[in-house]
Amino acid sequence: MNKAVEELAAVENISVHGLGKLGSVVAGTLASRGFNVIGVDVSAISVEKVARREAPVLEPGLQELFDLSEGRIGATLDGREAVLASDASLLVVPTPSDGDGSYSLRFALNACSEIGRALREKDGYHLVVMKSTVLPGACEGELIPRLEQESGKRCGEDFGFVYNPEFIALGNVVRNLLYPDMVLVGASDEVAARLVEGIYERVLETEPPLEHMNIVNAELAKLAVNTYVTMKITYANSLARLCEKLPGGDVDVVTRALGRDTRIGAKYLKGGLGFGGPCFPRDNRALLFQARKLGAPFQLAEATDATNEDPARHVAHMACDAVGEGGRVAVLGLSYKPDTPVVERSQGVFVAKLLKQSGLEVTVYDPMALEGARAELGDGFKYAESSDAAIEGKDAVVLATPWPEFAKLGYQAEQVVFDCWGVLTREQAPGLVRLGVGPGR
Ligand SMILES: NC(=O)c1ccc[n+]([C@@H]2O[C@H](COP(=O)([O-])OP(=O)(O)OC[C@H]3O[C@@H](n4cnc5c(N)ncnc54)[C@H](O)[C@@H]3O)[C@@H](O)[C@H]2O)c1
Repeated sequence: MNKAVEELAAVENISVHGLGKLGSVVAGTLASRGFNVIGVDVSAISVEKVARREAPVLEPGLQELFDLSEGRIGATLDGREAVLASDASLLVVPTPSDGDGSYSLRFALNACSEIGRALREKDGYHLVVMKSTVLPGACEGELIPRLEQESGKRCGEDFGFVYNPEFIALGNVVRNLLYPDMVLVGASDEVAARLVEGIYERVLETEPPLEHMNIVNAELAKLAVNTYVTMKITYANSLARLCEKLPGGDVDVVTRALGRDTRIGAKYLKGGLGFGGPCFPRDNRALLFQARKLGAPFQLAEATDATNEDPARHVAHMACDAVGEGGRVAVLGLSYKPDTPVVERSQGVFVAKLLKQSGLEVTVYDPMALEGARAELGDGFKYAESSDAAIEGKDAVVLATPWPEFAKLGYQAEQVVFDCWGVLTREQAPGLVRLGVGPGR
């Protein structure tokens, strides 16, 4: 082992490059656990907020982590300064989807250039951890070569590289980071893997399995987990459509039993709308892109992608039929899931657009995502100030996201209420239509 490696027995000082929806929470979690963290972003606003220990994104529990981190978290626009002051650099920068389904590495390569240039000036071992989602082969094919080229140093000797993604759902990020089901560690070498393990030992509230592997398998495993979950969602949604045609059928009863089987498991197995958000849809497409490129057919991912929007089209169709021409409909729930303002690929927004295209008067409401939805939907929709105001006087209501407050509203007897997630009873909404429930129930 070379001397530089011996000197770095454990990581104490960490730079986090990218202070967005994931990176800011990673930074807050590490600082709250005693690491010295310096955040880096190209956005001056995010840097200023983090430097003031102010959460730069809306995420439950994040501000509390920052409050616990006095003296241990700072932020800068200067990546060089941050790398020189740290033992490890975590990359949590965007990897936006390209039109063909692959991920663009432009932000990640920029960050690697900056880190690499700083490493050229730095003595001693440094750990680089990639957390952003990439296609299998991206780290060894492009990111590590860029770091080596800019630093003039060798991966596995002068610096270590680990692909170490997180499995999080917005609205639940703090908990997901502290209590993961497992930790994926795709490392260039043993030293790098051990240093990452040391970080997790100080952060985690549980002792989940650490899955050690090479980098390419870790890249694929990240995509495989997410695409398997999307397949489960699609399976439950297909069952829901079948149940609707089946006299006495009820998808909730069937999926409850299905989920008890330990080979299957209950999570994400509930008939409702399709999946949305910044990860699931694009991870599924990225796996498809990779499979096609390699000539390895992946029809399950193909079908998952092709049918994901069917439930939204179905509920929009039923709502149009129920209210007739010129009818008034409220869509409640515009974020892609509860507890987040994110509307990216949101099924609620999609339903609202379909209803509007059919000529209906559409009022929308969401407790957190109204501004984001306004940017997505534009004029032509009515934006309600509250859920009560949204449903008042409407012929039909679509519950597109299961925010708890929607289960407490006073629905009128004559309103048709399309409950996409099974949160209401007929006593609460006499005009209830639960998706996935067949005739006679
Ligand atoms: N958000 C999620 O639910 C989630 C879940 C799992 C994985 N991921 C992955 O994590 C990565 C980041 O996602 P996110 O949702 O946090 O993105 P985000 O867009 O919310 O944040 C990314 C941040 O990186 C900054 N940035 C861009 N270039 C930079 C550079 N060169 N140096 C420093 N900062 C830079 C941006 O200004 C932004 O603040 C993506 O690859 C995403 O797929 C996200």
